[in-house]
Amino acid sequence: MPDLETVLAALAEEMAARPDRGEVASYIPQLGKIDPQRFGIAVALADGRMLVAGDADEPFSIQSISKIFTLTLALGKVGDALWRRVGREPSGNPFNSIIQLEHERGIPRNPFINSGAIVVTDVLLAGHQPREAIGEILRFVQFLAEDDTVFIDKDVAASEKATGYRNVALANYMRAFDNLNHAPELALGVYFHHCAIAMSCRQLALSGRFLAHGGKSPSTGHSVISPERARRILALMLTCGHYDGSGDFAFRVGIPGKSGVGGGILGIVPGIASIAVWSPGLNENGNSRLGSIVLEKLAKAMDWSIFAP
Ligand code: DON
Repeated sequence: MPDLETVLAALAEEMAARPDRGEVASYIPQLGKIDPQRFGIAVALADGRMLVAGDADEPFSIQSISKIFTLTLALGKVGDALWRRVGREPSGNPFNSIIQLEHERGIPRNPFINSGAIVVTDVLLAGHQPREAIGEILRFVQFLAEDDTVFIDKDVAASEKATGYRNVALANYMRAFDNLNHAPELALGVYFHHCAIAMSCRQLALSGRFLAHGGKSPSTGHSVISPERARRILALMLTCGHYDGSGDFAFRVGIPGKSGVGGGILGIVPGIASIAVWSPGLNENGNSRLGSIVLEKLAKAMDWSIFAP
């Protein structure tokens, strides 16, 4: 097995030199300001070691990666009843698609597309003011990362609120089908804020460890969720974590992953590693272009795959 530290350093050097970096998301104006040259990677291993390369300590907007954490919290709150309101099938459509919602009468295909994540947020709002729900999500992520400096970038949240007409449409549409219990602006307020959580690759890799280790934090041994639930979240990450690019990601990389339009991807090698990568330029499906390429190369070099014997 090659030395992981050497592999990461070589990959970071290779990625820094690549010209084909994709396009930075500009539909959220604040994200459009990010330098596409940035690149970071962090790998948290089972034995507690953390290996990093590039801009691994610079916070970036985790965007849709936050949907893993809100899903985890919502399942803790309502359990399998969640699946009456959200499906578990890949969408085969862009993350902000509206057309499927009409066909399926306001029930989103899965919790990782925007509509599904807005329903999940609506679940977290029950019994709370929006501010409390946002605080609960942030504290959970800080707990997982074992770092209370993880923060919400208010400028990113405001930038999305000012321009998020598609999400407003999705939320209103679901409310019309009675699949939103709160006013659309309340659910969206929480949603925009959790998408605006800022984390570094190091913090993100730490926060994914419970998924790599059967629901337990490897550093404390404390159980965050049951092993069965961790497996199911990983199954959703594999099948739905990259929208209509999910099949391609599974084919090329072979591990569950969740992307965000900030250019981050959290990848999990069960029993072995939690990996966070960040490169802001996106491919045609809205997933980090170099992020998925580097994960493909890393998985190949280390022989990491959930399909390996
Ligand atoms: O709702 C949105 O459009 C963004 N806050 C999140 C979308 C996202 O990250 C999709 N990822 N690739």
